[in-house]
Formats: sequence, C-alpha cells, structure tokens
Amino acid sequence: MEIFLDTSSIKDIKKWDNLGFISGVTTNPALLSKEKGMPIELLKEICALMGERPVSAQVTAESSEKMIEQGIYFSNLSDNILVKLPSNLSGYKAQIKLSQLNIKTNITLCFDPVTDCLFAKAGATYVSMILGRSEDFNLQQSSLIKRTRAIFEHNSFDTKILGASFRNPQQIELAMSQGADVLTIPPNSLSMLFNNPLTNGGLKDFEDAWKTINDNDKKTYDNF
Ligand code: G3P
Repeated sequence: MEIFLDTSSIKDIKKWDNLGFISGVTTNPALLSKEKGMPIELLKEICALMGERPVSAQVTAESSEKMIEQGIYFSNLSDNILVKLPSNLSGYKAQIKLSQLNIKTNITLCFDPVTDCLFAKAGATYVSMILGRSEDFNLQQSSLIKRTRAIFEHNSFDTKILGASFRNPQQIELAMSQGADVLTIPPNSLSMLFNNPLTNGGLKDFEDAWKTINDNDKKTYDNF
C-alpha cells in the first residue's frame, strides 16, 4: 500500500516528504486555489520536487474534447504527471482517448463501484474513491472500497484503487482495511495521525510520574 499527499502546498510536500513514506502527490483545482501564484507553475514545481513519483493534475475542461487536449498538455509538462478526469461521461470519453495515447489517468469523484468498473475496463490507472466528501453530507460510504475491490479482483483489473478525500483517521483505517492500493492523505489528516490525544495524555502521565523521583536517583537513567 502506498501513501500519496493530497495537497498543492510546496511547504507541506517538503515537510512530509522528509519522512520518506510519500510515494506521490494528488492535486485538484480547489487545492491549487489555496496557494499563491500561477497554478501551472506550481504544478511544474510539484512535479520537479517529486522526481519520478506520480503527480495527479485535474482537468478543468468540461467537454471530452477539451479534456483530451488539456490532458495531452499536462502530460507534456512532465513525465510523472497523471491526468485526473471526472467520473462522468465526458471523463469516460476522454479516458478512452488518453488510454490510446498511453497517458496515465486518475479518475476522481468516484462514488460507484460499477462506474469504476467501466473506467477500469477503459484502462484508467487509478480510481479515486471519495470517502470524506460523502460523509460530510451524512452519506455513508463505508463499503465503497470493499465493493470495488471485489469487482476488480474478480475481473483481474490492473487499475489501482486510491482512497481519497479523508477527513479523519477513521476513514483512513477503513480504506486501508478494505484493500485500497493507495491512500492520498491531506497534510492535516497526517498531522492527526501523529498527534493522538491519548498518546499525548499518556506521555504527560509518564512525565508527571518521573518528576516524583529525586534528581540524584534518576541521574544514571537519564544521563546517556
Ligand atoms: O484527491 C481527492 C480530492 O480530489 C477530493 O478531496 O477533500 O475535496 O473531497 P476533497
């Protein structure tokens, strides 16, 4: 299982990439809109930072013809770009053409295993199963990845299942346990994973207990 970073922030990419477990980056228009400067320049900078690791760039075009043109344009920017297409009919038509051109894709806003199956048959590289966005509106998607996994295994599809749109560690665990190949995690959700209140509270308990030992007695333990 691989971990991608769901962000367009250079600062966050540098911060988390230092830890060595980031295998790629996913961007989208909303993430790019949060950063300063021209989105295309930012995208190039992200691609350069990631080296050979994949970076998803989402089309903003609405017709399939324009999506194809924009996808070709993105793929010419850098060898590690994947074209992010929406899980609708225009995206599907664009997928067919981009497959013929051997351009890798990431299908986004996927909420239906059957639609995923059609994109997989058409040669999509990844399908992004969106967990947090649906739960924001109280639509439970707790078995989405599991159902998609079953169809993909039955058909021996090469398309990878990417768990996306995480808001909390619970949704990340769900995607991991249901067999997502990749998880794209926003920086704030990654921070939550390393800032568990129970871990912090436990550490405070240990610190308080340690203070009850006199300085001389604990000197040989603490001095190294
Ligand atoms: O890569 C996933 C992203 O495009 C959707 O995430 O957080 O906007 O629901 P979000």
